Amino acid sequence: MYKFLIRPILFKFNPEFVHKLTMKLICYIQRMPIAGGVARLLYRKEHPSLEREFFGLKFRNPVGLAGGLDKNGEAYNGMAAFGFGFVEIGSLTPKPQHGNPKPRLFRLVKDGALINRMGINNKGVKFAIDKLRSIKPEIIVAANIAKNTGSRDDQIAKDYDTAFSLLYDLVDMFVVNVSCPNVEGLTNLQDVSYLSEIMDGILDRRATMDEHKPIFIKLSPDVPNVQIDSILDYALRNGVEGVVAGNTTRKRDGLSTPEEKVNSIGKGGLSGAPLYERSLEMVKYIHQKSGGKLAIIGCGGIMTPAQAKAMLDAGASLIEVYTGFIYEGPGFVEKILKELDPPKKKKRKQAEAVVEEDSPAVIQNADTEILESNA
Ligand SMILES: Cc1cc2nc3c(=O)[nH]c(=O)nc-3n(C[C@H](O)[C@H](O)[C@H](O)COP(=O)(O)O)c2cc1C
Repeated sequence: MYKFLIRPILFKFNPEFVHKLTMKLICYIQRMPIAGGVARLLYRKEHPSLEREFFGLKFRNPVGLAGGLDKNGEAYNGMAAFGFGFVEIGSLTPKPQHGNPKPRLFRLVKDGALINRMGINNKGVKFAIDKLRSIKPEIIVAANIAKNTGSRDDQIAKDYDTAFSLLYDLVDMFVVNVSCPNVEGLTNLQDVSYLSEIMDGILDRRATMDEHKPIFIKLSPDVPNVQIDSILDYALRNGVEGVVAGNTTRKRDGLSTPEEKVNSIGKGGLSGAPLYERSLEMVKYIHQKSGGKLAIIGCGGIMTPAQAKAMLDAGASLIEVYTGFIYEGPGFVEKILKELDPPKKKKRKQAEAVVEEDSPAVIQNADTEILESNA
């Protein structure tokens, strides 16, 4: 229904307008117990086989919302009603910022993709803190943190530390965003000489806290594997729990959308279907290189339940979706969860199958499987 009825209407409007409308609707669902109840009934699927436990955190299921949709931490409980096992809020910067001039979000429908150059527009850490204090999370919340766009080089590590310290008591885990292609110079922070300055500060800060909370570094799909190696090496040596693989890409290879249209959009990070191959490759590479010692959140281009499963099979502990949720709609997470926890299959008893041995039609039916839902 979403894909054939609602999406064609929504996609007639400006993408950022639809984004804001969707967030308003999800905030409404969060506030209204009846609306929330209906959404939960329709979209939430719970089963012990879907649960995961990492770093002392119990995830209802391994499917999370990627950073950038609930930028300000306004709708995490509403998102929980759509079946997510965890929600990444942010990216949050110490000070509020408007991001880049509009238009800054574009759809490439033929490619099942988006291009955005939002530029980490967000209402700042303090706004999110107020929300987290007033709306108790019913779901695991990860805070994605970043520097303010205008911060000088000597202020960058301090920005991350400020966001980290202020949010520490209010969220369950952290994602350090050093891979947004839409903020000048941010992806350079993946160079270990810069990264270590940021991460050393955060790790030292964590050491002073009573509770230990996991930290993930969010990587760009555009960094070469040799650079990934040095980040993994840093992470393993310094007690970083894991990585998010990964963010949007600057590349535009292999798109079906006409080149003129892609060029007319200009700069920005590409997300959605074209990203999948590289993000899956990254997950496999990181899993193998780290010998399974780093937790991986697989993210990028997951548009089908089978792709979600393949990402987990490749070594991701958890996965995240963003563009898939926009294209596939509110039932997307539930579809993934059905793929991860399929109905049990029961072979029809052999005896039943051969009752009428001489009938070819019945012999064919002998191989039919009876599906029995374990939901
Ligand atoms: C409109 C938009 C805004 C985003 N904003 C952020 C952000 O603020 N911080 C971040 O780390 N990633 C951000 N992302 C990247 C996503 O979290 C995700 O890594 C990327 O879109 C790949 O996943 P997907 O193909 O499932 O969308 C954004 C993506 C989109 C489409």
